[in-house]
Amino acid sequence: MIGTKMKIALLYDLWNEDPAAAALKEAGEGGRPSNGNGCKRKPAKKVKKEKTDREEIFDALEKLGHEPYNIELDGRPQSLHALAKCDADLIFNLTESFGGDDTREMNVVAYLDLLGLRYTGAGPHAIFLSQDKAIAKKIFAFHGIKTPYFASSYRGRIEHAHDISFPLIVKPSWEDGSIGIDAGSVVKNVKELMERVEYIQDEFDSPALIEEYIEGREVYAGVLGSYERAQVLPLVELDLSRLPEGTPKIASYDVKFEKNTEAYKLTKSAIAEDLDEETRRRLSDTALAAYRALKLRDYGRVDMRLAPNGEVYVIEANPNPWLASRQEFAMAAKAAGLSYTEMIGTILDLAMSRYLNASLVNAAAMH
Ligand SMILES: Nc1ncnc2c1ncn2[C@@H]1O[C@H](COP(=O)(O)OP(=O)(O)O)[C@@H](O)[C@H]1O
Ligand SMILES: [Mg+2]
Repeated sequence: MIGTKMKIALLYDLWNEDPAAAALKEAGEGGRPSNGNGCKRKPAKKVKKEKTDREEIFDALEKLGHEPYNIELDGRPQSLHALAKCDADLIFNLTESFGGDDTREMNVVAYLDLLGLRYTGAGPHAIFLSQDKAIAKKIFAFHGIKTPYFASSYRGRIEHAHDISFPLIVKPSWEDGSIGIDAGSVVKNVKELMERVEYIQDEFDSPALIEEYIEGREVYAGVLGSYERAQVLPLVELDLSRLPEGTPKIASYDVKFEKNTEAYKLTKSAIAEDLDEETRRRLSDTALAAYRALKLRDYGRVDMRLAPNGEVYVIEANPNPWLASRQEFAMAAKAAGLSYTEMIGTILDLAMSRYLNASLVNAAAMH
């Protein structure tokens, strides 16, 4: 199948609760809000003119000689019924929620598995393990992967607690895209901590993840491949050093998505050129270990902090990271010598070879 023309469905989520997403749809701009991962609690986004990741991937699939088409999941059961009739050879999975509920992201891929449909990226286990950051951190600890000490608390109950010390960062336990992460996330005393925990619970109805704040450089490792054949792409650094004095040096929501803010304008991702060989190796090995520990496959991105003393901490591992050409994953693939189209082609090949290997194994077992 690899190398032959395939019918590829670009599967993405869109729902009407988000007025910006609806506006994008109306404008024929494609469904993904600017950060590429939908969530109904996200602030409204403006209609954007630049191509969405979905449009870029669509173009790349055409360039590769395939036949792409779109399938939209809008959160209603009817869209699931339509998906059950999908006759694509492969689904390029861009969903990050079902109807805006991102805790259902894993259900979407579990449903694809039940339907026997082939798709790119992580399966339900990996999405579950990485989405619940407290679980992911416990798994990292088991594998000896350094991650900031933490406690988690929900409605007055402590669900897990290391002996942690200030400064701390307080985050929702299972959001991504820096939702709920702003200058108030880093807390220096008990009063600030208690206020922030309450804010997270009220706003996101999620346990609060309270982590030791790691001062240091923010480094992202794109990983391409599956299991023992996974490879780390050149490391990318998000330079936060120019953020104004007194603002915590973190990748807040503004830094990532709000183009009109100072925070966005003063920060920039680039290939981390100045790391010595040994540090680069430790960052890459750590990223690979985290990727494998959470059972990520095809492609993923591991977010890390490099402390001034050289310690490497995993902040989180992201299955199916944002593939827009200006984002860190594509930047890393480019530095590894892959054009955008080649990067998309590699993800397709990785997904297809997983399914072909599985059917070979099954065929062998039957003889
Ligand atoms: N323990 C930590 N120490 C220092 N910075 C952190 C820590 N946890 C999160 N951050 C900062 O907040 C950003 C977003 O946190 P992250 O857990 O990756 O959330 P999301 O899933 O929303 O991307 C990180 O990229 C980093 O800049
Ligand atoms: Mg992150």
